[in-house]
Amino acid sequence: MCRTKEAAFISAVAAAGLVHAVTRSCSAGNVTECSCDVTLRHGGSASEGWHWGGCSDDIHYGMAFSRMFLDVPFKNMTGKSWSGLVAMNLHNNEAGRQAVAKLMSVDCRCHGVSGSCAVKTCWKTMSSFEKIGRFLKDKYENSIQISDRLKKKLLRKEKSQRKIPIGKEDLLYVNKSPNYCVEDQKLGIPGTQGRECNRTSQGPEGCNLLCCGRGYNTHVVRHVERCECKFVWCCFVRCRRCETMTDVHTCNNSEVSNQRHKGCFKKYLFANNTFKFLRTSRLLSATMHSAF
Ligand SMILES: *[C@@H]1O[C@H](CO)[C@@H](O)[C@H](O)[C@H]1NC(C)=O
Ligand SMILES: *[C@@H]1O[C@H](CO)[C@@H](O)[C@H](O)[C@H]1NC(C)=O
Ligand SMILES: *[C@@H]1O[C@H](CO)[C@@H](O)[C@H](O)[C@H]1NC(C)=O
Ligand SMILES: *[C@@H]1O[C@H](CO)[C@@H](O)[C@H](O)[C@H]1NC(C)=O
Ligand SMILES: *[C@@H]1O[C@H](CO)[C@@H](O)[C@H](O)[C@H]1NC(C)=O
Repeated sequence: MCRTKEAAFISAVAAAGLVHAVTRSCSAGNVTECSCDVTLRHGGSASEGWHWGGCSDDIHYGMAFSRMFLDVPFKNMTGKSWSGLVAMNLHNNEAGRQAVAKLMSVDCRCHGVSGSCAVKTCWKTMSSFEKIGRFLKDKYENSIQISDRLKKKLLRKEKSQRKIPIGKEDLLYVNKSPNYCVEDQKLGIPGTQGRECNRTSQGPEGCNLLCCGRGYNTHVVRHVERCECKFVWCCFVRCRRCETMTDVHTCNNSEVSNQRHKGCFKKYLFANNTFKFLRTSRLLSATMHSAF
């Protein structure tokens, strides 16, 4: 995972998650150092019939907290380590935070006689973390490979594209991703052999992509469930036992991999980890909440 686009994505999601969780806590009044955005109070546009009200999310404290927490250890790295690498890590962290800032939106509520909406109260709000995650996933798919030569500035690896500026929301990486199809204990890649897949799906969970052309095995799994439950007077529930058979497909672990498929579908294989990670960051959010 080192310096790959997956690592870039994870840095960005972690940095964004921290901003999100801290800001939520600020708005909830759970942190003494911050609160709702007070700069908006009494503002708005009377002529257009709306004013700021309620609690607008103020991300400034969360942004500073995330920088403090995630960036300072890098900034304090002294000496031999490639300074461009530090710059890349800081850039990816910031890209995550910028995603939260960019996806801020405005919600409004109508007031007036029977919902006539003569007057509106509006407030700024962060997007859901799912939406931020999807935005960053898109940045991951379009991430930029940079040169690992020691340079003062971050430079694209592709010489012909060096004139195109690197945006502050772009994700950067140095190394090409390994082949996630095949187990590699040294790199901590579990491979996809034995993974459950969907025979009919053309998506990331489909056997075609997930098994990387190695084929799959099919087993029949028997489920026993309580079913057709009825309430019997008085007072118990009587059920029948129902048996269902389902086909479960799992990827073959044969070494003979189809060259055509090899390494082509990293991003799909990664998709599941992405969502696992998003779930983990929500856990992280929850942990952050309880820390305040
Ligand atoms: C704020 O604190 C309360 C009480 O500790 C907790 O129930 C709530 O989930 C917290 N909310 C946020 C957004 O952190
Ligand atoms: C940075 O490193 C120096 C020396 O190792 C240490 O004294 C200082 O506390 C560190 N600063 C931060 C913010 O971690
Ligand atoms: C498998 O994929 C098909 C097509 O995408 C979908 O309709 C079906 O519900 C999936 N099956 C399972 C068990 O997820
Ligand atoms: C993705 O991960 C979830 C949770 O770990 C798992 O239940 C599911 O089967 C996985 N999907 C695929 C296609 O492997
Ligand atoms: C998958 O493995 C099973 C047994 O290991 C084998 O019978 C089957 O032909 C393999 N499928 C493919 C598509 O290679």
